[in-house]
Amino acid sequence: MARMIVTPWEVRGEIDYERLIREFGTQRITPELLERIKKHTGELHFLLRRGIFFSHRDLDWILDEYEKGNRFYLYTGRGPSENVHIGHLVPWILTKWLQDKFDVKLYFQMTDDEKFLFKKNLTLEETNRLAYENALDVIALGFDHRKTFIFSDIDYAKTLYREAIKVAKRLTLSTAKAVFGFKNSNNVGEIFFTSMQAVPAFLESVKQGRNVPCLIPYGIDQDAHFRVARDILPKLGFYKPAAIHSKFFPGLLKGGKMSASDPRSAIFTTDSPEEIRKKVANAFTGGRDTIEEQRKLGGRPEICSVFKYYEFFFEPDDERLKEISSSCKKGERTCGECKQILTEKIVKFVEEHQKKREKARKVLDKFILRD
Ligand code: TRP
Repeated sequence: MARMIVTPWEVRGEIDYERLIREFGTQRITPELLERIKKHTGELHFLLRRGIFFSHRDLDWILDEYEKGNRFYLYTGRGPSENVHIGHLVPWILTKWLQDKFDVKLYFQMTDDEKFLFKKNLTLEETNRLAYENALDVIALGFDHRKTFIFSDIDYAKTLYREAIKVAKRLTLSTAKAVFGFKNSNNVGEIFFTSMQAVPAFLESVKQGRNVPCLIPYGIDQDAHFRVARDILPKLGFYKPAAIHSKFFPGLLKGGKMSASDPRSAIFTTDSPEEIRKKVANAFTGGRDTIEEQRKLGGRPEICSVFKYYEFFFEPDDERLKEISSSCKKGERTCGECKQILTEKIVKFVEEHQKKREKARKVLDKFILRD
């Protein structure tokens, strides 16, 4: 089995989430903690119920403060190196749900600087353009412009830079090397960058002139950034940011997560119905070689990328998800029909998303923070 690698820039191998909890030093989201959330939200999002958000830091503290009347704010972000795919939407969907349920502000960072620094073939013009294109996907999910503040690192640099250098001053090269695995061949912009990603974790405190708790939903691959931030922010007089971590949305091909670098592995929000049909048709499943074997032995939803699509996104109803799984295991549901049903669900979702995305162009300015 390929060795597991999980860094902000690379996710590879068979992912062992329990091991990530141990190695990164995070906490498991327990049933007790879920009950505590439910007390405030009335229900639990399926991403929480199904353990797709599986780990956290200081989420209990966020709830303690909230119960005392000390409201938190949310922070998340996106590295705009490509169009957005369905896997990217997963943490944003939970973020939106949290914003609605707790009625809180959200800062959404577009790290066009990061993608320029880390991607050989991307120009700054291109990552900056993608920042605003990707922002349309965020807005299309229905965020409230009165509570949602999206910014490009480049275009909001005047505000961000003066805070980022305070972080940078506390971060030595040897720590950056140890945490991120940087080598002497990394450019100095890459080494500095984590200071920019730390800023929105205390920006609201700077703006309000008092400490405000911050909760950051993110894919667990981003954790290294926030380990650094949690170490440094208290030294600057701010709270440590709390976090809630999601698993990776598996790709359509065998093994690995959805990846923008292999377009066949993911459904993009900009894909046409034909592209979607083709990608799902070619997806890796847990099905058997022949229909006869399938009927006799049943399929294997636990290894099936198509089933993951239902679980992570397209079947919010737990009962129906269970039915899909059990009829697959009994050999009643064939991969062909399962793919067919999924394709229609994805096509419908993407078509609607694309309409909302175009509408978002008209209101984009309402969301964007500028200096
Ligand atoms: N670095 C992230 C990426 O490449 C983008 C990002 C910036 C982010 N700030 C964040 C992601 C906060 C999650 C939470 O996608």
